Amino acid sequence: TSGQVPYVDIETLIGDEKSCISERIRHIVQAEVPSLTRSAEHFFQPGVEGKRVRSSALLLVSSALSAGEMGDPDKCRELLKPDLRPYSEYPEEVRRKQQRIAEITEMIHVATLLHDDVLDDAETRRGLNSVNKMFGNKTAILAGDFLLAKASVALAALRNTEVLILMATVIENLVSGEMMQSRSSQEERMSLDYYYRKTFLKTASLIANSCKSAALLGNHEEEVAQLASDYGYHLGMAFQLVDDVLDFVGSSSSLGKPTFSDLKSGIATAPVLFASLEEPQLVDLTLRKFRYEGDVEMASRLVAKTSGVKKTMAVAESHAMKAIKAVDMFPTAESKYSEVCRDALRYLASSVTSRRT
Ligand code: FPP
Ligand code: MG
Ligand code: MG
Repeated sequence: TSGQVPYVDIETLIGDEKSCISERIRHIVQAEVPSLTRSAEHFFQPGVEGKRVRSSALLLVSSALSAGEMGDPDKCRELLKPDLRPYSEYPEEVRRKQQRIAEITEMIHVATLLHDDVLDDAETRRGLNSVNKMFGNKTAILAGDFLLAKASVALAALRNTEVLILMATVIENLVSGEMMQSRSSQEERMSLDYYYRKTFLKTASLIANSCKSAALLGNHEEEVAQLASDYGYHLGMAFQLVDDVLDFVGSSSSLGKPTFSDLKSGIATAPVLFASLEEPQLVDLTLRKFRYEGDVEMASRLVAKTSGVKKTMAVAESHAMKAIKAVDMFPTAESKYSEVCRDALRYLASSVTSRRT
């Protein structure tokens, strides 16, 4: 996909805004109890905020649909001032609400990471020790709950019931996706349909619904909000498919987390499911969750012999292309600035399939 899509420097478009959002999150996650603050803010420390793909996507969607020029530097600075009041009557009220959704999205995301690292018994994340490793499982779970609570308060303060329902449904989806992954029947474990459904629930739903929420808060019609959702859905699917590939072909140093972690957790992702069509031995290994001594090594060697990774990348690329098509269907851009943000969305979608981290 990257061939036809021009490069856009996303950081110059939304870098400042992302910094402000991270700064605000660091304020929001201050707890009454110091040990709770320490674990809740762990992955929001400067430099370890991660790629922030989710908030980038929704901020760019917001701008791509907006009529306004972000050209006036004074206006820009005013808009970027961290405003800790949950509700404001400023003229830029709409943009502020979209920024709030970005914060809520990142807080929900990190809450799931804290819980996920407990479930996966993971020791590293974003190149740091995981919260469970540093402070123990109980603290990590409570810190995740705390972030969800803070996200809920921020969500209620937006006073938009439709957005509230969308984002609360995301939380339900995340839990369902995780449950589908950890509690599956033998038949489900070998099913690509089951895998795609789970991938929607655990990854794409958050990106789709946060993009949709940003569009609704921008007062766009349902049809336009649906295109924003489609973009997020396909970006999310592509993102997770690539994540599952990187677990096989990535390096733990560039990923900041261990490799072959899915196999080690007994989970067969798309590369294994495609590979098992060429190497039927993988079916047995998958059904017994790569549990026996040497299973993980054997499975990874078998996958490497097949086109499993290549086929997964092809599915990821087709989702990236569909994300780009959703942008092409946005209503006519009302400013040069929103045109640039559309190119940025296209570039973001195409770069997801070439990422190594
Ligand atoms: C990362 O997956 C995990 C998720 C995207 C979702 C996890 C959801 C839960 C733990 C349910 C709890 C939900 C809430 C709302 C707190 P992964 O293990 O495949 O990715 P990784 O390689 O980054 O660890
Ligand atoms: Mg994990
Ligand atoms: Mg997990």
